[in-house]
Order: sequence, then structure tokens, then C-alpha cells
Amino acid sequence: MSQIEKNALVLGASGGLAQALIAQFVADQTINTVIAVSSKPAPENLVVDKSLVWIQTDYTEPAMVEVVAQLVDYTGSIARVCICHGLLHTDNLWPEKRLEDIKPEALHEIFQANAVVPALWLKLLHKVLKAKQPTVVAALSARVGSISDNRLGGWYAYRSSKSALNMLLKNIAIEYARRVKNVKLISFHPGTTDTALSKPFQAAVPEGKLFTAEFVAERLTGIMDNAVVDGELSYLDWDNKTIPY
Ligand SMILES: NC(=O)c1ccc[n+]([C@@H]2O[C@H](COP(=O)([O-])OP(=O)(O)OC[C@H]3O[C@@H](n4cnc5c(N)ncnc54)[C@H](OP(=O)(O)O)[C@@H]3O)[C@@H](O)[C@H]2O)c1
Repeated sequence: MSQIEKNALVLGASGGLAQALIAQFVADQTINTVIAVSSKPAPENLVVDKSLVWIQTDYTEPAMVEVVAQLVDYTGSIARVCICHGLLHTDNLWPEKRLEDIKPEALHEIFQANAVVPALWLKLLHKVLKAKQPTVVAALSARVGSISDNRLGGWYAYRSSKSALNMLLKNIAIEYARRVKNVKLISFHPGTTDTALSKPFQAAVPEGKLFTAEFVAERLTGIMDNAVVDGELSYLDWDNKTIPY
């Protein structure tokens, strides 16, 4: 595959923000193919053709290794990666309000989705991402993962999984700077966005502060287009402002 080709990879592709990012990348004339990876089948409204490839997986490490094997042909041509995994609540799991709500199973489940799976992708993908051209990788994090910004407490599993994600990304940025020098890593806070993840909490969001996924996807792709490969992790919000760790 030609080195000048530009492709985009969206991991955790069925979510609200991921779907908006896929739409942005598909509409971008400079991007040849968008590769979407999800635990779910492609939504029916998506046209899956040579410009959009959909790969289904569970997120065990052997299954992720198989996904990466399918990406080997794209080595050197993936210019954009969005890691969109994120879990806050399920039918059986709700963000903790107080100490008594802390449950080992919830901590494990949320850490697995929010920190372990993104770190495994960056472990498994490094050879595919090595390129002559810049590759910008954005992992969707959250401001609540900022330890210095934590004034309210609560949401033990989600907050701490995002702090762990940030530390994993920081470590990976240090090692990538030596081994995969073309990659810029961004830990990105989208702001409260109208998706399934935020749905139960939207009533508390002040007027005008709930973003559409399309707005956030536009902001993030703009930030990625202007990112400079400097071997550092940047922790940025939707307004391109740096968040303190
Ligand atoms: N929406 C907000 O207000 C908001 C605010 C701050 C940060 N964020 C962050 O933005 C990211 C995207 O969230 P969203 O709002 O688009 O939420 P969403 O619509 O609920 O999407 C969640 C995504 O997480 C993946 N996922 C769910 N359970 C998983 C599991 N057990 N293992 C691995 N992956 C799993 C799904 O991937 P599949 O395609 O495989 O199902 C899906 O793409 C998340 O990291 C979230 O924490 C969102």
C-alpha cells in the first residue's frame, strides 16, 4: 500500500462519538479508507464499502491480535486513530455516590473498558502505526480523570479508570517517542456530549453545555489536523485547552 495514502481507524466504533467521527472521516476527501472496529455489527444506515471497512471483535487480547493482523496491509498509512471506548453505567452498574457503593466487579469492568482495552490497542498496534507520515492518536478520556481537578469526588470507578488511562497514555507516549516517533498522542475530553453514556445525567447539564456528537467530532478532527508530533502526551479538551493532570 502506498505510503502517501491516508487512512483512519476508529476503535469502539458503535458509540455516539465514534459514529460522528466516522462520518467526519468518511466525508474527508483526504482520507481513503475508514476502518471501524466494534463489538457490534455495522449499523444498518452505514454504507460499508471500500471507503468504510467494519471489523467486529470481542475485546479479548487474542481477538484484538486478529484484528491487528487484518490491519497489517495498512501499515504506514494510518494517519488518524480514535480510541472511543468508554463505560460509565450499564443495567447492572451505576456510578458510585459514596464509599459503600464501591464494588470490585464494577471497578474491574470499568477499568477493563476504559483503560485496559485502549492500552492493549496501543501495545498491539505500534508496528502498524510506524510510518513516514505523522499519525495522530486520540484516546477519548474525560476531565473527571484529572486528579488535580477533582473537587466533588464520587464516580470512583469511572474517574480512576480515566486517571489510569491518562497514566498509561503518558507511559506509552514516552516509549513511542523512542520507538514509533511519527505518533502524536492526545488524551481528549469531549465535554458533556449527547450520547447514551451521558443520557441519564443530562438533566443536570446547564443550558447550552450539552454538545452534539457532530460538534465534538468536528472539534477533535480539527485538533488532530493541527497536532504537532512532539513525542509528548497532550491532555486537551474540546476547546483545545490543556487540562492539568
Ligand atoms: N458523552 C459524554 O458526555 C462524554 C464525556 C466525557 C468523556 N466521554 C468519553 O467519550 C468516549 C465515547 O463515549 P460516548 O459518549 O460515545 O459513549 P457511548 O455512545 O456509550 O459509546 C461507548 C463506546 O465504548 C465502547 N464500549 C462499551 N463497553 C465496552 C467494553 N466493555 N469494552 C470495550 N469497549 C466498550 C463501545 O464500543 P463498541 O463499538 O465495541 O460497542 C462504544 O463505542 C468514552 O471514552 C467516554 O468516556 C464522553
